[in-house]
Amino acid sequence: TILVLDFGSQTSHLILRRLRALGVFAELLPCTTKIADLSWKPKGIVFSGGPSSVYDEGSPHVDPAVFDLDVPILYGCQEIAWRIDSTNVARGKAREYGHADANIVKVNSHVDRLFAGLGAEMSVFMSHFDKLVNLPKGFVVIAATKNSEYAGIAHEEKPIFGVQFHPELEHTPRGSELLRNFSVDICGAQPKWKMGDFVQLEIARIRELVGERALVLGACSGGVDSTVGAKIMREAIGDRFKAILIDNGCMRLNECEEVKETIGEHLGINLTVVDAGDLFMSRLAGVSDPEKKRKIIGSTFIDLFEQEAIRIEKEAENTPNSGKVEWFLQGTLYPDVIESLSFRGPSATIKTHHNVGGLPERMMKGQGLRLIEPLRLLFKDEVRAIGRQLGIHESLVNRHPFPGPGIAIRILGDVTKERVEIARQADHIFISMIREAGLYDQISQAFAGLDTNRSVGVFGDQRVWGYIVILRAVRSKDFMSAEVFNFDNSFLMNVARTICNQVEGVSRVVYDFTSKPPGTIELE
Ligand code: XMP
Repeated sequence: TILVLDFGSQTSHLILRRLRALGVFAELLPCTTKIADLSWKPKGIVFSGGPSSVYDEGSPHVDPAVFDLDVPILYGCQEIAWRIDSTNVARGKAREYGHADANIVKVNSHVDRLFAGLGAEMSVFMSHFDKLVNLPKGFVVIAATKNSEYAGIAHEEKPIFGVQFHPELEHTPRGSELLRNFSVDICGAQPKWKMGDFVQLEIARIRELVGERALVLGACSGGVDSTVGAKIMREAIGDRFKAILIDNGCMRLNECEEVKETIGEHLGINLTVVDAGDLFMSRLAGVSDPEKKRKIIGSTFIDLFEQEAIRIEKEAENTPNSGKVEWFLQGTLYPDVIESLSFRGPSATIKTHHNVGGLPERMMKGQGLRLIEPLRLLFKDEVRAIGRQLGIHESLVNRHPFPGPGIAIRILGDVTKERVEIARQADHIFISMIREAGLYDQISQAFAGLDTNRSVGVFGDQRVWGYIVILRAVRSKDFMSAEVFNFDNSFLMNVARTICNQVEGVSRVVYDFTSKPPGTIELE
């Protein structure tokens, strides 16, 4: 494993992705991580870039013990140089940003390994304010650009390399080769990381963690994360994993049946469906504030999980699988982990969205449940790849995300059975037409929601005061920002016509042209 120490750059996780794409397993930890706290020894360490100046007070720095580990180090040339002498780094005259050509300087067989096979010149991407003003003692220059005399440096004897450019960015076209030279040839990491191995290791880890008797509870929504998580749990501990699907009355058309079929029948997971639509509707009656809606839905989920945990323990008594419910499965992905580990602190706005109103915290306190997170080291596309390997159907693997609170946060204002039903029908039409047009996989997330207001329309000779359907479709890599999907007008007109014709009570259909930011993907 290669350890990537994060100094807070927006692109730190890309270093990880590039390494994993090379088959080299890597983990990301805050740059301030105490080496003594690590339970494993990395084969090599990469320092990411970061927004702080190394010489500013309060800037984060690596634990000096990093240098005593006696493993190769790459990147973060400012941190390396500053460690040696704080006057080595200063603010440049101007920010250097963009493409540059780096001349590779041949030195000796030891340091030349980093740029091996990359020729005499390399196109690189620079983004920095500060620069090295002196060559640190013991170091030699291995790359230079027009503006940066020390674009690459290496220690004469020790395997310590610093580069000023960003090898993890696509704009450094041969950056992956440099990362390969470092991780495989210099660190000796084996480029063997495969998704299949990951699943086997994770299964072994879960078995050890959970032990012989404990039961694990997990929420299944039918989305790719919860399904892959559930399948891994099932492989690890069989029927001691209990999946719960709570029908909150705000799911999409036919969704419960589909989840029952895939999770329960096709994947053989022990699944209980809790039909709680009426309970959710009664608790949501008259509530139109988005945050209140989320909180009510979240706490109702917890009430039901608590009831289910008790029921499941009772049911398991006197069977070979008797035991206490000690664990709760959560489909946390790596971007969430990175965010919560960051020394900058978690970003509140995004976090609150991603768990349903504090679901895990309360259960952990109330019932002493511990969280089990089989996907915590994976990115979304890696989860999808594992899903495919585990035999999960392509249509589920590629499914657009759907939020825990469901349609309730897609209808502005009151949540009533009638309004949910209208949004559900309109959504079904919109998504079916997107699929028929072959556009589903080009869109990251699409849905139909409902406006708070109503609008006047005319059907035949009748005046109607109907509902307003809001269509939304976005493209996004990480769902933290998103751009609006650019449909043909004729497609949208066709969708509008079909919805007005087929969904009673709808007199108008509008398309939301707001990107994120400033809009969020969901309407609430
Ligand atoms: P927003 O609306 O914040 O959504 O732009 C970003 C992504 O997160 C999903 N989302 C949720 N998922 N529970 C979830 O499980 C939630 O409460 C929740 N709120 C938003 C949303 O669908 C999008 O993919």
